[in-house]
Amino acid sequence: MNLSSFVLYIASLLWLDFTDAKIGYFWHITDLHYDPFHNSQEFHRGCKHNRGNSEHSHRNGRHRDHTCDSSWPLIQSAAAFMAERHPDTLEFVLWTGDILSSSMEHLTEEIKLEAVRNVTDVLSRTFSSQFVFPALGHNDPPPSRRLVDMWMQWLPTEALQTFITGGYYTIEQSHSKLRIIVLNSVLWAGGAAKTEGPHKGRAQWEWLEHVLSKARRKSEMVYIVAHAGPGVEERHTAGSSTAAGGGELTPTANARLLHVIRAFSDVIAGQFYGHRHADTFRLIYSEGRPVSWALLTPSVTPRGAGSMSNPGLRLYKFDSNNGKVLDYTQYYLDVSHPQGELHWAVEYNVTQYYGLREISPASLDTLAEKIRHGHDRSLLTKYLTALRVRHVTDTECDTACVHVHYCAITRADFHEFRTCVRNPASALASRAPHKSAAMLLYAILILISS
Ligand SMILES: *[C@@H]1O[C@H](CO)[C@@H](O)[C@H](O)[C@H]1NC(C)=O
Ligand SMILES: *[C@@H]1O[C@H](CO)[C@@H](O)[C@H](O)[C@H]1NC(C)=O
Repeated sequence: MNLSSFVLYIASLLWLDFTDAKIGYFWHITDLHYDPFHNSQEFHRGCKHNRGNSEHSHRNGRHRDHTCDSSWPLIQSAAAFMAERHPDTLEFVLWTGDILSSSMEHLTEEIKLEAVRNVTDVLSRTFSSQFVFPALGHNDPPPSRRLVDMWMQWLPTEALQTFITGGYYTIEQSHSKLRIIVLNSVLWAGGAAKTEGPHKGRAQWEWLEHVLSKARRKSEMVYIVAHAGPGVEERHTAGSSTAAGGGELTPTANARLLHVIRAFSDVIAGQFYGHRHADTFRLIYSEGRPVSWALLTPSVTPRGAGSMSNPGLRLYKFDSNNGKVLDYTQYYLDVSHPQGELHWAVEYNVTQYYGLREISPASLDTLAEKIRHGHDRSLLTKYLTALRVRHVTDTECDTACVHVHYCAITRADFHEFRTCVRNPASALASRAPHKSAAMLLYAILILISS
């Protein structure tokens, strides 16, 4: 960017600050992992504790446990809570997949679709006057006529055309400049080549770049929404694709998605993913500068691969004129609540929790640095507490552990993550010095003097 365009950019930011934000809200819910056989003696793959210890999983008669996927009562309680918390200006709902428990994997398409239908029905009753935008996860049935029939209540005709062939689509909002792009990350994950053939994944790349270019020409801002996003799982410290569970982007797809996000960071207002069953964020850098953020919403299921969390639901507050995310409220349900109630409560509001002035790549980058340097140990504790949605089994995190978290947040590229983990010193060296504050001052001086 040359100086004059930079000045224009600053001027536009200042101008935006003086215009009225049109406050709206949207829910982001993900990884429900509904297990219809949660309480059945016949099928107990979803609930490990059922194995030879049925008493434990049925404690309080509530059928929920950190080792079990979501029971029907848990899903109903989440829906009832969202209905009750309904803000007047709720605009839409992002629903990023893994609707079904992985324990249903080997069941028939028929029963899977019936389970998806039941969850869909609950959501359409809960959000009777809003649109729900579903993204597919690796535990969901692939796109089909029957999925289309279920979701056509929410998706316009153009969206259904790409959904039926590839499971991805875009939503253009008539009343605002915000466009939503819902990707099918399954097409870019390992194993997709076997089931779908690589051509569908290729078609999605071409389509994505086309839609982003068009959005840029039309001066729209874009939300990227998918089940799995770029970056690594911090618990798999090797960051290798073999360590990753199902649904993970392949190294090639991960690198290409990062490339696309960098190339279009000027039109991407935010990225929203699920999949990791963790409350965390990812930053994407270009030439050492943070240019885009991804916020990961924790799962509704309390069960995780290797680690557990409490169920979470997230309500975003945004400027619906331009998609700028202003805040979010994270809600949670304490599964081990002593009274055994399905009681949802506020966990935190993000700007207040982390002391952020705004949600931007720069502010989240500063947060990542603060977590890393640990001058303020309370920020690290907050991060680790939120990560598992207050299901804290282990708050100990030594310097090496903090460093892995930092690398996971700031190194979405698989190679860079591995280098970062192996070599803490390189993590500092690879970052270009920040010149943005000086540039900003300079730009303001020019503005004032002209
Ligand atoms: C779906 O809901 C119907 C009606 O409540 C119920 O009979 C059926 O068992 C449910 N099936 C699944 C798979 O959830
Ligand atoms: C968090 O934000 C919500 C919605 O804006 C608000 O109603 C609530 O009072 C806030 N809670 C806290 C603890 O600040």
